Parts: sequence; structure tokens; C-alpha cells
Amino acid sequence: MNLPIATLERPDVTAREEFRNAVISGLSSTPRAIPARFLYDARGSALFDEICELPEYYPTRTETAILGRCAAEIAQRAGPDCVLVEFGSGSSVKSRLLLDAMPDLDAYVPIDISREHLDETAARLRRDYPGLRVEPVCADYMALDGLPAFINGARRIGFFPGSTIGNLTPEEATAFLRRARRLLRDDGALILGVDLKKDSQRLHDAYNDSAGVTAQFTLNLLRRMNRELDANFDLAAFAHEAFYSPDEGRIEIYFRSLRSQTVTVAGRRFFFAAGERVHTEYSYKYDDAGIAALAQSGGFAIAKTWTDPEHLFAVAWLQAAA
Ligand code: AVJ
Repeated sequence: MNLPIATLERPDVTAREEFRNAVISGLSSTPRAIPARFLYDARGSALFDEICELPEYYPTRTETAILGRCAAEIAQRAGPDCVLVEFGSGSSVKSRLLLDAMPDLDAYVPIDISREHLDETAARLRRDYPGLRVEPVCADYMALDGLPAFINGARRIGFFPGSTIGNLTPEEATAFLRRARRLLRDDGALILGVDLKKDSQRLHDAYNDSAGVTAQFTLNLLRRMNRELDANFDLAAFAHEAFYSPDEGRIEIYFRSLRSQTVTVAGRRFFFAAGERVHTEYSYKYDDAGIAALAQSGGFAIAKTWTDPEHLFAVAWLQAAA
């Protein structure tokens, strides 16, 4: 069964245009910043997959272990005939843990901005789960207002793993949750993966790995600008920088200019002072109270939280609140 993909996407030309506009506006503002979602071109996505395997990067393997342990309980809470909606599904590796535990799911709805990822993932899932209805939606989940009409009726369970919510500022995170709350309706729930506050050194190491993969991931953004926006960044003249700010409760990531230099991007010249940096990512860390406050601000209440023995990472069941 090869169902068509529900599409809310724009053609590739527009994606390029969107990247160009974001970069020009980000390099023209003070302080300089480029949104984190642009880190994920094909090479960036492959580098992120590599990050997930690093010894220092504990979130992926910790969350996977938690999901393995709580999947049966999640399935029980969800009940039969519901729809699992994943926000930013990528290759749906973690969703499989839930799909395995939820044999009487009505449908799985992966939402992803990348049509390529969606096509591949849907094909693989249909092969591996012949009884499962897979209904991909190609869209930016930060701007999605509705789901295809064919899933009307069923209870909707959202899935937002990986501490992707950590990339968002608290204001953006609240806006996302409110949107998800509307999409999932009054009887819905959201399964949320969140990285927890912990020892600063452990956090620092997770974003400054000894193999330098995270540095490559950050600097890949320069490579992408060179390729897609006709830029001339010298990759040896910039460095990855990441540190934990305990006051803000977040990792901050930048690329830093190692000397004073002028770079051309999409026909415009940008001067960088020695030591000047461009922000690329936040990775917010939460504690239990922070997750509860966040949930509430988005119209949810925590019904249950699962964690690992070291309390590194949390998976929370957020129930839609009245
Ligand atoms: C995909 C946002 C969860 O913040 O840990 C990892 C991204 N960046 N190393 C994170 C990331 C550098 C990651 N998230």
C-alpha cells in the first residue's frame, strides 16, 4: 500500500530562498545568530547521527533506554485505536520502540519538513509494519495548524522526543506546546523527551566531544553557506564554541571568528572582528519543576515522568489539561 503523502511543503527553490533570507538577516542583526534548524542539511543530519553515537553524548542512548522500559506503559495509557503523531520524525528510530509496543494503533503520522526523509521513512515503516497505517505529513511542525481529515475521530497521542524542545527558547517552547495542544485536542496527550540539568562538566563534554564531531556539525553551517549561498567562509578561520550557562540553564553554541576578516555571503560583505561569534543553538536543560511549569504554560499537565537511574534525561506524559 503506497498512499500519497499529505503535502504542505514548498518547492526547493523556496527552501534555498528561506535559508538565504535567514542568513542575511541573522548576520545583519546584533547579536548575530542563525536559526538552529538550518544545521540539518544532508551532511548536518549525518553528523548529528554521528553525535548521537559519541561516548560523551548521553541523551540519545539514555532516552532510548527509558523508552524501551516505559513503552508498554505508554501503550496502556494511550489505549487502543489511537493515532501516534510525531513532531519532526526524521528517521523514526525512536518511534519504533513505541510502534512495537502499540500493535493496535489506528495510524502513525510522522510530520517532517524533509520530504526525502519522510518518503524513505514511510517506505521502511510500511515494509516493517505491514499492518500499520502510515500517513506522513510534510510540514514544519512549528507552523502546522491542522492534521489531514482522515485521522478525525481517533484519540491523538503526540511524540516529541530527543529534547528537541531544548533548542527552543522558553517562549518558543510554550508556543509549540500550545500549538500541539490544539492539534492533539482535549483528550490528547504528548510524550515529551527532555534533557535534565546536571553536573556542568558532563553537559560541557556532551557538546565538546573529544573527536570533534560537534565542532564539525557547527562548522558545517559555514560549508552549507559556501555551497548554497555562494559564500567564502574559510573553515580554518572559525571555531566551534559551546558552554553551559548555569544562570540560563542552557548550553549555548556559536561559531567564532579566529581573526578579523570579511566574508561574502549571497553577494553581501560581512566583517567579522577577531573573537566575534555567531549564535547557532541553544540547548535548554530542565529540572522537574521546569518541565511542570513548561507543560502548564502550554496547556498540559504532567501525568507521569520516566527517567534513568542517573537522572540524566526524562520522558514525560503530558496530558491535555482542561
Ligand atoms: C537535537 C537539539 C536535541 O541540543 O542536544 C547536539 C542538538 N547540537 N549537539 C541537543 C545538538 C549539538 C541536540 N538537539
